[in-house]
Amino acid sequence: MSVYSAKDFDSRNYNDNRPTYPDEFYEILMDYHQGPRSLAIDVGCGPGTATFHLASEIKSIDCIIGTDASSTMIDTARQLQNAQKVGNLSFEVSPCEKFEFLGPERTNSHSCDLITAAECAHWFNFEDFQDSAWKNMRRDGTIAVWGYSDALFVNYPDLDDMMNGITYNSDKLGPYWQQPGRNILRGMYSERKLDPTKFKDIQDVSLHVSDYRTGNIDTLNPRPLKVCKKQTIIQYANYIKSWSAYHSWKKDQENEDSDIVDDWVHKVLQVHPELAHEPQLIAWNTFYKFGRRL
Ligand SMILES: C[S@@+](CC[C@H](N)C(=O)[O-])C[C@H]1O[C@@H](n2cnc3c(N)ncnc32)[C@H](O)[C@@H]1O
Repeated sequence: MSVYSAKDFDSRNYNDNRPTYPDEFYEILMDYHQGPRSLAIDVGCGPGTATFHLASEIKSIDCIIGTDASSTMIDTARQLQNAQKVGNLSFEVSPCEKFEFLGPERTNSHSCDLITAAECAHWFNFEDFQDSAWKNMRRDGTIAVWGYSDALFVNYPDLDDMMNGITYNSDKLGPYWQQPGRNILRGMYSERKLDPTKFKDIQDVSLHVSDYRTGNIDTLNPRPLKVCKKQTIIQYANYIKSWSAYHSWKKDQENEDSDIVDDWVHKVLQVHPELAHEPQLIAWNTFYKFGRRL
């Protein structure tokens, strides 16, 4: 997706302000996974959001490779790796459907045990990606696709319209999303199914902010992906500034003094001034899809 590949895309800000995935989710993933854990590939890895977690927390995976079409993202991932000195992983610039970085012996020869795609497959040609994942994964290896979208302050439903407004309104960031990717994500990949001719034991699990509000979140089965954190509105604004739509808006407005997100924060604070300094629970709609290669 071209915005993330732009040389001036702020991949550091992305890394600092995007939500991460909780330990519990990696437990859910590895409970699902069966058999060897020699090689995992995290496609569309960005600055290594899930890749580092897989490498540092899931010690039982011998080798993890993060790949991304954007060299800007991969440069940041490599810098973070040098700083953190995490051993069992590496990063490659590669589109999601290419596995040539594995070398001629291992490419398209069912060598991977786990292939993950976090918050990125809405930009992919999903059929090509599944086809390549199938060719590069061993029998019973795991494909895992997940994502999040459209955060809300859980205890401030009166702000829902303003939160959705900055994201989608035609006078806000709405026109700056690349489509159809954003609509696919917003719809929680409801039309993107894992192919049952390639994968079995398919799990398709989603969670909505309304589940936090009704209080039934801890009783859900299968366990969902919970992406939530406490943030002030200023921290949330920094997250908005990591969006591809904000990057595109900014490029469009190079000579403007005002900032669409800062103006929006000002309006939110008129309604709830406490959000300037009191972090409050923010939660995202999420989904995950797991499958085992046939
Ligand atoms: C929103 S970021 C997600 C990064 C990370 N996986 C995460 O969980 O935060 C989406 C990433 O997908 C990458 N991407 C988009 N289309 C791609 C493709 N066809 N092949 C590989 N990477 C792609 C972008 O460069 C970007 O880094």
